[in-house]
Amino acid sequence: MDFLDRFGLTVPLVQAPMAGVSTPELASQVSEAGALGSIGVGATDADGAAAMIAAVRARTGGSFNVNFFVHATPRTDAQRETAWLAALAPVFAEFGAEPPAQLRTIYNSFADDPAMVRMLLALRPPIVSFHFGLPDAAVIAALRQAGMFLLATVTSLAEAKRARDCGIDALVAQGIEAGGHRGIFDPDSRDDALGTMALTRLLVRDFELPIIAAGGIMDGAGIAAARALGAVAAQLGTAFIACPESAADDAYRAALISSAAHHSRMTRLISGRPARALANRFTALETQLSGVTPPDYPRAYDAGKALNAAAKASGEAGFGVQWAGQGAPLSRAMPAAKLVAQLRDEFMAAINR
Ligand SMILES: Cc1cc2nc3c(=O)[nH]c(=O)nc-3n(C[C@H](O)[C@H](O)[C@H](O)COP(=O)(O)O)c2cc1C
Repeated sequence: MDFLDRFGLTVPLVQAPMAGVSTPELASQVSEAGALGSIGVGATDADGAAAMIAAVRARTGGSFNVNFFVHATPRTDAQRETAWLAALAPVFAEFGAEPPAQLRTIYNSFADDPAMVRMLLALRPPIVSFHFGLPDAAVIAALRQAGMFLLATVTSLAEAKRARDCGIDALVAQGIEAGGHRGIFDPDSRDDALGTMALTRLLVRDFELPIIAAGGIMDGAGIAAARALGAVAAQLGTAFIACPESAADDAYRAALISSAAHHSRMTRLISGRPARALANRFTALETQLSGVTPPDYPRAYDAGKALNAAAKASGEAGFGVQWAGQGAPLSRAMPAAKLVAQLRDEFMAAINR
């Protein structure tokens, strides 16, 4: 059975998991409207994830996807962290604040959190997806054995091979255009920065697995383009940020419809891993902080979030964490169910042209 039929989708559309932005309300509205809704639980613990899964199930009987971060265990490098906090100190000072004395690992990788595996085996959501890497083969086998369908984000052919070889069921081909964190397994490795179109074609040519295209896709024409490339579906993140059901704050929503939407930047400064954000005062620190290496993800994020909080408390919204893809200026603020219906209409119009 193909991917769409298996999960009851009436449009080849996945709403991307977006930790901190997507919500159970958003995911369930999307699933009820015939696409695949997703929740991102990468920044919470097993109890938090269980509560979010229950909240989705309370609102829809449809399929949904639960997404985890599988990054390498962060190194605590005191020298690097001290240098980083010292470099940020003048920026904090502008808002009468000081950087945190020490950085914390604000959440754990799925690979370091056996409670998450136990939670999944107990709750068995229909689809589970992984970002930043892959769990152990034994964990993958156990989740599949329990009936879960597994997705992994990949940004290169090499990552796709690793995902296939350890039993992942379908691949999310994330191009460099994509908003949010780049799923690259090793952020210190050389990144060929493939675009969505080239990556999708390479994976469709070389892999039997279903491929889901992600990055810069904002409308039905984009979904039709992904299908024409051979993808089974398109995964859209930025397109859903402006929905009232997302957790985006007012400044983020305003930025999406401002000129900043035309200038996204890939940066490691905010979290320690490369991620695409709307250009703002935070991404502009790139020059000032060049030569200082950010701490490992997510320890750098502890400082990034503290800086945003300090700036916000002084009325400066320019340090907001505003992840978005290159298609951001095409985003539309409308309820999720309406957006899915509109994307379906546009997709049908595009394939019948
Ligand atoms: C605000 C935001 C948060 C994101 N968080 C996650 C996440 O938690 N897990 C994940 O796998 N991908 C995450 N992504 C990446 C998406 O899965 C997807 O690759 C991306 O949104 C596709 O590009 P687009 O934003 O141009 O549609 C996020 C993207 C955005 C915009």
